Amino acid sequence: MTRHSRLRLDDIVAARFMTVGRPRRLAGAALALAVVAALASPCSGGGAEDRRVDDLLARMTIEEKFGQLQQLGGDATTGGMRQGQDALVRRGLIGSFIDVRGARSSNEVQKLALDSSPLKVPILFGYDVVHGYRTIFPVPLGLASAWDPEAWERSAAVAAREASAAGVRWVFAPMVDVARDPRWGRIVEGAGEDPYLGSIMAAAQVRGFQGRDYGAPGRVVACAKHWVGYGAAEGGRDYNAAEVSERTLRGVYFPPFRAALDAGVGSFMTALNELNGVPATVNPFTLGQVLRQEWRFDGPVVADYQAVEQLIAHGVAADGMDAARIALDAGVDVEEQSDLFRVHGPGLVRSGRLSRARLDEAVRRVLRLKVRLGLFDNPFVDESVERSIILSPENLAAAREVAGRSLVLLRNEGDVLPLGAGVRSIAVIGPMADDSQVPIGPWFADGKGENTVTVLAGVRAKVAGRSDPVKVAYAKGCEAEGSSQDGFEEAVRVARESDVAILVVGEPSTQSGEATSLTSLDLPGRQLDLVKAVHATGKPTVVVLLNGRPMTIGWVADHVPSILEAWYPGTQAGHAVADALFGDVNPGGKLPVTFPRSVGQVPLYYNHMNTGRPPSAYKYTSKYVDIDNGPLYPFGFGLSYTRFRLKDLRLGETEIPVDGRLVASVEVENVGRRVGDEVVQLYLHDEVASVTRPVKELRGFRRVTLRPGESRTLRFAIGPEDLGFYDRDMRFVVEPGRFGVIVGTSSEGGLVATFDVVGQKSTTAR
Ligand code: NOJ
Repeated sequence: MTRHSRLRLDDIVAARFMTVGRPRRLAGAALALAVVAALASPCSGGGAEDRRVDDLLARMTIEEKFGQLQQLGGDATTGGMRQGQDALVRRGLIGSFIDVRGARSSNEVQKLALDSSPLKVPILFGYDVVHGYRTIFPVPLGLASAWDPEAWERSAAVAAREASAAGVRWVFAPMVDVARDPRWGRIVEGAGEDPYLGSIMAAAQVRGFQGRDYGAPGRVVACAKHWVGYGAAEGGRDYNAAEVSERTLRGVYFPPFRAALDAGVGSFMTALNELNGVPATVNPFTLGQVLRQEWRFDGPVVADYQAVEQLIAHGVAADGMDAARIALDAGVDVEEQSDLFRVHGPGLVRSGRLSRARLDEAVRRVLRLKVRLGLFDNPFVDESVERSIILSPENLAAAREVAGRSLVLLRNEGDVLPLGAGVRSIAVIGPMADDSQVPIGPWFADGKGENTVTVLAGVRAKVAGRSDPVKVAYAKGCEAEGSSQDGFEEAVRVARESDVAILVVGEPSTQSGEATSLTSLDLPGRQLDLVKAVHATGKPTVVVLLNGRPMTIGWVADHVPSILEAWYPGTQAGHAVADALFGDVNPGGKLPVTFPRSVGQVPLYYNHMNTGRPPSAYKYTSKYVDIDNGPLYPFGFGLSYTRFRLKDLRLGETEIPVDGRLVASVEVENVGRRVGDEVVQLYLHDEVASVTRPVKELRGFRRVTLRPGESRTLRFAIGPEDLGFYDRDMRFVVEPGRFGVIVGTSSEGGLVATFDVVGQKSTTAR
């Protein structure tokens, strides 16, 4: 069992405590925040820290102050500075870099700052370390598929060790945007569609990156991004406008950010989109009211890449000076890549259009972060440490294990998998089979294809040296994109000559991630035709999917007996996939997103509202006339090489007061023949409320490993934080009435019980 069971109550109580939306409840909330902040604070330097910051501030010119607020992009390829940036460093006009990395490179830049700049303020190096620095773990959607916060925490800790050894102390992660639309390429970067799963995973990442003290060796400060509503881009088109109601923001999009904050996240990044009519970078509701006032976040907020300058294109700023002014006024502290703060800031202050107090507040936040990170005391990193940590055997072992936990078995008719001892020859086919770049996904940080184990290499390594040799043949079949079928003949030939065909297909990683919105979720190019041609040989066929979003794979789901969803599994991709193909790992992951049947169904997510006319045989109900409403694969779905049975769902109480709690228990048993993992999921449904409520909401889960015949009783605590919601006045309330408890192994089906909440509606969750 993962540590999730122990963390769950604390995490959720803390998260829920802060879901207050009204000033009159802020007293309690502020107190809780103070406690949370004190516990989570990396090092409340207090007096000494403030004195150091105040002393520097008192000696800075206005230009140097704006320099601290400036983050520029170095050369992403070499990890060094770009031309001309050294002059700015010498004058103390750059506070932080993105993309400058590597011990030697960061030390060089740091030395320049410390030797030449007037006040010798160290530079802070930031980087997009989203799922690994050089040792790349599965993409976040894959990590979420493990339903194992401890695994994600471990992977973030490895990433932090590697990144900090390379001089990077600020990571632009976790990306905690809830994403309900697979057309949006950035769905790959987050934990999927669910706010509860997303919250648990957000907290796990912050713990993994920062530890208890982000100033400690091997730790980095994290950044919750993209605040907020970025995943709700209209049409799934990246950077597009988002229109999201306050209730949906508070109930769906905010919780993972809140969880990151409660875990002590040191910084936030604004999103590039506009939200309900105002760009997120200057949105007074999300940035001012919620983040700063209600949540009392006092760390630095960085505007995403050129987001300040883009206020002009959004049409809310007339020019660069206007953009700098409104962003600073809205509470942005650091400008990434565009340099309007540095260029226009001093003029704005001198002309009285920006207050000195606001400038000092922003600079103070940046300096405080640098002090807490220990940069003033330890500005350099040791190159020999970098060499020993990057891609160390321990890191690679962790990447392999975590990748194994992220795999989701979507189908296994006739138990084609795992490959048995009778398999003497294997055909590995497909454009992704021997590609070393695709498995590390679109956000590969400093990861390199040359360090990646491809699926073909993993299969070959698995059978190498066997006393009873297994023949492995390879055919690419076709490119990932394009229309040529020239390679089909060879693919069919090697399939015919083998006992089993493993097809490795999916999305090129260039088609996933930022700025990769799609209108089709089908396998690109001729890949589906390749699958059909190989399947037609009649050989047992397995499809391994490497992709970053749910895809419409209806034909594959109907015809191919075994399907393994591997996402982009990272540096150790091939070993992890081979472990599962040969049964050394029994897949236990579950989908953190819904797979639609057709792109026309999206957005399609399990926790949707009902309608007044739920689908039925009657014509005038809410349904498509050409396709079933339901998904191809539901959220939470995933199979195993063994089978599990749930029984005896029991509730500790049948009736609780509005502020009461109860415990649900259920027994899970491995009724198959192999050791395996099941993820037991608890959902709630509020039957009647003053506002419409989702058909079900995930409120608990456990991943357990059971031997054949073994069973375990799992307990889930349910409290006001699980039962409450935002009412018509946007207060977090628990209303009396009947609730359904559904416990299953996916978001479909399961055991059901009910209980009643009695008494007067409570206006707080506690
Ligand atoms: C833009 C992306 O939206 C953000 O996630 C990332 O951190 C920055 N670029 C820097 O690379």
